[in-house]
Amino acid sequence: MFFLHSFIFVWLCFATYEAKTIKKAEANLLESGHQLDDWQGKWFPQAPGEPHLSKVLISTAATPPTTPNDSWPGKWFPYAPGEPHIPQVSIATATKTTIKPAFKVKDDWTGKWFPFGPNEPHVVTMSNQLPKNEQKSENRAGKWFTHGEKPSNFVCDDGKNNLSVDYDPNEVRENYNYLCISSNRRSFYPNMSREAILTEHFLPSAYMPPTKCLNESIEYSHQPATTGAFRPRPAVYGTYSYLPPQRYLRNLAEGAIVMLYHPCAFRGQVEELQKIVRNCLFRHLITPSIHLSEERPLAVLSWRHSLTMSVVDKKVVSQFIQKFAKLGPLAIDNLSRVVEVRDSYKESLVTEARLITNPDDSELCGYLDQSM
Ligand SMILES: *[C@@H]1O[C@H](CO)[C@@H](O)[C@H](O)[C@H]1NC(C)=O
Ligand SMILES: *[C@@H]1O[C@H](CO)[C@@H](O)[C@H](O)[C@H]1NC(C)=O
Ligand SMILES: *[C@@H]1O[C@H](CO)[C@@H](O)[C@H](O)[C@H]1NC(C)=O
Ligand SMILES: *[C@@H]1O[C@H](CO)[C@@H](O)[C@H](O)[C@H]1NC(C)=O
Ligand SMILES: *[C@@H]1O[C@H](CO)[C@@H](O)[C@H](O)[C@H]1NC(C)=O
Repeated sequence: MFFLHSFIFVWLCFATYEAKTIKKAEANLLESGHQLDDWQGKWFPQAPGEPHLSKVLISTAATPPTTPNDSWPGKWFPYAPGEPHIPQVSIATATKTTIKPAFKVKDDWTGKWFPFGPNEPHVVTMSNQLPKNEQKSENRAGKWFTHGEKPSNFVCDDGKNNLSVDYDPNEVRENYNYLCISSNRRSFYPNMSREAILTEHFLPSAYMPPTKCLNESIEYSHQPATTGAFRPRPAVYGTYSYLPPQRYLRNLAEGAIVMLYHPCAFRGQVEELQKIVRNCLFRHLITPSIHLSEERPLAVLSWRHSLTMSVVDKKVVSQFIQKFAKLGPLAIDNLSRVVEVRDSYKESLVTEARLITNPDDSELCGYLDQSM
């Protein structure tokens, strides 16, 4: 009898605590004021004094977001302050978009432009890209593709060969990506008093991330990576024994949600987060990642956003998905039309994602809303 009473007491304390956490967390996630900016003339990477990323602690309202010191001495993209800006160009539904600056910009800048030179029109193709034969590419960071002839013997990215630049599935020495090799699993245990962290990276809305062939390596300046260059071929949606970031960044750009877990993360929490993500949307990828900390070995990512956690909070996770899924520079409304016909990457795919509503995910986490 005594045992039963103390059990109930402990359970009640826990339940009350959890309710509080969720309430605060909800408030914070909803109040986060950083929406996708529709202004085309955004400075790159950020205006002077403007923090280029924000971190929000979900559940400690008192902690202010960090303000990193900006010491970038370069040129703003695409225009300097006060100069006219190009009107918004929607790349959401068109297959081909030609972006032309609407105004002549006076400028004697002789350095590099990012990602395009001034007044240089460019064509972005969103279906399966192949490198066009001899397109002028100067010293750009990335290669732009149009439908064109495939140069002989050159495989840009077929999703099958030359993969080892990112991850070689046949190389045993790369198993640290999915095996827990830490001697101290305990340090990864869930901790109720550790807040989730929402991190947002700022980018100009006109920024198009470069697509790179497998002959070039891709590194990311922040981990877990939520923006940057990627491979041309997206990953098939579903759960992987390991999927490299160079691949899932492509999916993030088309509005996917990626779930990461550290190989040493507590199993029960990994499964709980998997269940939420799988039941929220079709457009998801799940993979282990060693780029997560012991303190927060679980994460959900969208383009430019990450939510890292020690403990899974169903409500916070589903709000993140509802708010940030289906956004990104390659996001299209009718994804189903593309997904069914394209060639994709599926190395180390374990289970394919199943449909929740439809391939366009017209409702996000609807099932969870009903059960909460
Ligand atoms: C920012 O960093 C630069 C170089 O590290 C330093 O000179 C400058 O004083 C810093 N500014 C602020 C506001 O901390
Ligand atoms: C890609 O792999 C093929 C064989 O699968 C090889 O002939 C070719 O040289 C490789 N290309 C690069 C860029 O590594
Ligand atoms: C749980 O997290 C809190 C806050 O970060 C920390 O002070 C505490 O030591 C942690 N507890 C354990 C058992 O790691
Ligand atoms: C990779 O291949 C592309 C297309 O042929 C080429 O333009 C680029 O220079 C190559 N990059 C490297 C690092 O060799
Ligand atoms: C997308 O799908 C909706 C309904 O399924 C349709 O009305 C619309 O025309 C489609 N748009 C494109 C660009 O295919």
